[in-house]
Amino acid sequence: MIHPEVENPLREEMRMERKAPPCVVVIFGASGDLNKRKLTPALYSLYQQHLLSNGFAMVGFSRTKMDHQAFRDLMTETTKEFGEGGIGDPSVWESFSQTLFYISGDPNNPEAYQQLSDLLNNLDREHGTAGNRVFYLSTPPELYTPIIKQLGAAKLNQAVSPESWVRIIIEKPFGYDLPSALRLNGDVGVVFNEEQVYRIDHYLGKETVQNILAFRFANGIFEPIWNHNFIDHVQITAAEAVGAGDRVGYYEAAGALRDMIQNHLLQVFSLVAMEPPVSLDANAIRDEKQKVMMAVYPFGYDEVSRFAVRGQYGAGTSNGKAVAGFREEIKAFNEKSKGHKYNEESNTETYAMVRLMVNNWRWAGVPFFIRSGKRMPKRVSEVAIQFKRVPHLLFRQTKADRIEPNTLVIRIQPDEGITLKFGAKMPGQAMHIREVNMDFQYGEQFGRHSPEAYERLLLDCMLGDPTLFARRDMVEKGWELLTPVLDVWRDEPANFPNYEAGSWGPAEADTFISHGAAHRRWRKP
Ligand code: BG6
Repeated sequence: MIHPEVENPLREEMRMERKAPPCVVVIFGASGDLNKRKLTPALYSLYQQHLLSNGFAMVGFSRTKMDHQAFRDLMTETTKEFGEGGIGDPSVWESFSQTLFYISGDPNNPEAYQQLSDLLNNLDREHGTAGNRVFYLSTPPELYTPIIKQLGAAKLNQAVSPESWVRIIIEKPFGYDLPSALRLNGDVGVVFNEEQVYRIDHYLGKETVQNILAFRFANGIFEPIWNHNFIDHVQITAAEAVGAGDRVGYYEAAGALRDMIQNHLLQVFSLVAMEPPVSLDANAIRDEKQKVMMAVYPFGYDEVSRFAVRGQYGAGTSNGKAVAGFREEIKAFNEKSKGHKYNEESNTETYAMVRLMVNNWRWAGVPFFIRSGKRMPKRVSEVAIQFKRVPHLLFRQTKADRIEPNTLVIRIQPDEGITLKFGAKMPGQAMHIREVNMDFQYGEQFGRHSPEAYERLLLDCMLGDPTLFARRDMVEKGWELLTPVLDVWRDEPANFPNYEAGSWGPAEADTFISHGAAHRRWRKP
């Protein structure tokens, strides 16, 4: 719930000077799902909060034939459905919708870019967008390079005046593997300077992910114990209750490792494991993230089974309802599809887990277990820092294994917050110890909802702040580290399905984590 301003003195402070300068945001793939569900609602939310300039405009670019008004009507319908609180006050939406424009064109056709260029010049003159431009690639990835080349050919990569700027946001997936990511970075680099390129990873826009930095570096008490002397291991989880759903096609080609770990969870990992940056400057932070990525032990092809586990859900139960397995979903999809058919014996993983070892002084010997899966018991993303057990147990009446080691849980979503788990004496004559929680909840504490990740990231890009975007070197390093897993999993048959929908993943993941360390178990968040 958004509290009224009067009740929340923090609100003004939070706004600070973070208001976008005049600019136009051009969304390629404007008739697609991401724009409907996330981008336009995020821009509208910024507008409602008065965080966009009066000189703001958005241009949708897609193949679908529509004029400006039809596009505005479409966005009205979709924002009603997907915007937080729908469109709210219709008069506010009405004035926002006047900032929306549309060009229907083939992304491979130079004429469409001439039309776009004319429209942008027009908007500069009539809507005060000041020549500042954000191009947002929200199309299927095979169109990224053609669009980038066309933008270059139409000189739309160049600022129109010394004061104006041009930036490009590139959605995930950023490549399919290392060679394709290198190629894409190469293609982008021919047309845009790295400072103009914003590779978006919406996990970095989540308030709780950003809070990892604040938590670590704005508090004196955690950093001294943030190392191998005190931490046994770290678990990073992104579980989802949903299955592949209507994205079977995309997902069958991608799989959990590409879809969630290579990007979102490696970003989270790097924030948890990095050294303190010398400043909050974008490159100072990104340098440290890259440094820790470079310290990760690069396991080889013959070591994959000691570093990674995969799974695929079979039929099971989700939220009390019987649900199909992944392969059945593919079958059902194929039966309906008139076009491409997907492999009904798919070897694609819907669950992936990797163990990263960081070879530096801070983390020597501390495994980072990172997992993500679809059709798990619930939707939950968290980082759990598992501290070491006490060195000596004083409480004889309590069995040693009944005293859980301390855990610090950073809950990314839902129920955003932080919990510290520790042992406390139960009331009574005997000395019985039980685990209790010290809890911080975002919603309760700040009485304000966290902005949607896309709001934050769009605003950052308009402001020219790349801190929360992935830099070229980190994207490439992520692919490089995971290449052996991707290749081995592609080439070796799997014993799928190996977990029931609605469970916490394959049994192999449980034995994996406790291998050689019987006390280690996956948390059930
Ligand atoms: C996307 C993945 O990047 O992230 C999806 O492609 C996944 O498969 C989604 O469902 C999860 O995002 P969130 O914000 O719901 O955790």
